[in-house]
Amino acid sequence: PFEVFDRLRESTPVRYDERRNCWDVFRYEDVHYILKNPALFSSKRPISDMENLLIMDPPRHSQMRGLVNQAFTPKAIAALEPRIADIANELLDEAAARGGMDTVHDFSGPLPVIVIAELLGVPARDRKLFKEWSDVLVTGPQMNTEEALRAVMAERHEAMRKLGGYFTGILGKRRGKREEDLISLLLDAEIDGQKLTDQEVLSFCILLLVAGNETTTNLITNAVRYMTEHPEMQEMLRRQPDLMPAAVEEVLRYYPPIQAIGRVTTSDVELGGQLIKAGSQVVNWVASANRDGAKFEDPNTFVPDRKPNPHLSFGFGIHFCLGAPLARLEAKIALNLLLERFGHIARSGEEELQPIQSPFVFGVKSFPVTIS
Ligand code: HEM
Repeated sequence: PFEVFDRLRESTPVRYDERRNCWDVFRYEDVHYILKNPALFSSKRPISDMENLLIMDPPRHSQMRGLVNQAFTPKAIAALEPRIADIANELLDEAAARGGMDTVHDFSGPLPVIVIAELLGVPARDRKLFKEWSDVLVTGPQMNTEEALRAVMAERHEAMRKLGGYFTGILGKRRGKREEDLISLLLDAEIDGQKLTDQEVLSFCILLLVAGNETTTNLITNAVRYMTEHPEMQEMLRRQPDLMPAAVEEVLRYYPPIQAIGRVTTSDVELGGQLIKAGSQVVNWVASANRDGAKFEDPNTFVPDRKPNPHLSFGFGIHFCLGAPLARLEAKIALNLLLERFGHIARSGEEELQPIQSPFVFGVKSFPVTIS
């Protein structure tokens, strides 16, 4: 599915798509330039009823980001390693007892949801609920008709309402009694002497669920998928588990969970010989930038120990993924344990892979494997 980008980078590196009423950008250099220039390319978009980090510009963005950064530094995240390993092992115990699993349903799906639930401080037993709601929030319309779009918006609105109600209950409890969790940290945090509003705490919690879960699920599933398509990769990583961090980066580059990042121009800009008017939607194709031969040697080859590997799958600049250290750690632990515990991991079932229905997500709905 990525070959089409090779052609587009050559023929129309920056192009206007009339049907979608947006600009598409395909080259690494251009995508990088855009992400580096938030003043010209704003993140503010009315994609939901709530404001959150992802769709804020400076100075508000820098203030909010400063608050939450401390909870997500590589050091703070590294402390979670033993707990992540326990969760992954428990999931694999159940799968081992059955001799197989659906990677998505039984392993890569639950792992990030349980981890983020514990970080936030919400009961992990409620995870099925918020997984259901957050899935609705990231699923795009099946068809690009107005009717389909309206139906999706209505569904999202409803899911948002339920998630909001759920977290409001938790916030109420934490106001009475703080715990050692992210929600308590957010309740105590101040910007210029001002506490965050309930609405702000709420939308940040929802952002973590929405931004972190399906993406990490897809990263792990995409890695399992690659390793079953290339059993020699399993062998190699089983022998050299230290290679896993680099291999995870290459999976991110090669099969990016988020294929494109949106921005809006704040003034007229010239890019790739095209004039983009102020207020235009710009779609930055990370999946294409990651395979740009001007930046990567042998871009269409999977090189497990590629170094350097400046892929853009976590974005770049001020909005660089807050959860990157967590996603990297979860993927490393999950995949190393899977390989360590099972000598043979192979795809099972004859069904064709079902891609996730969203133009900007790269992942499959289900990936059954046998493990022994
Ligand atoms: C931002 C990708 C996991 C939380 C981003 C952005 C990308 C991204 C591309 C930048 C968006 C932009 O510039 O508009 C991914 C991928 C992940 C992943 C591929 C997994 C493989 C996570 C996790 C969390 C998380 C686990 C939280 C627990 C966030 C947040 C932002 C963000 C809060 C907004 C940061 C900001 O605007 O300053 N992510 N993400 N992500 N991500 Fe992730």
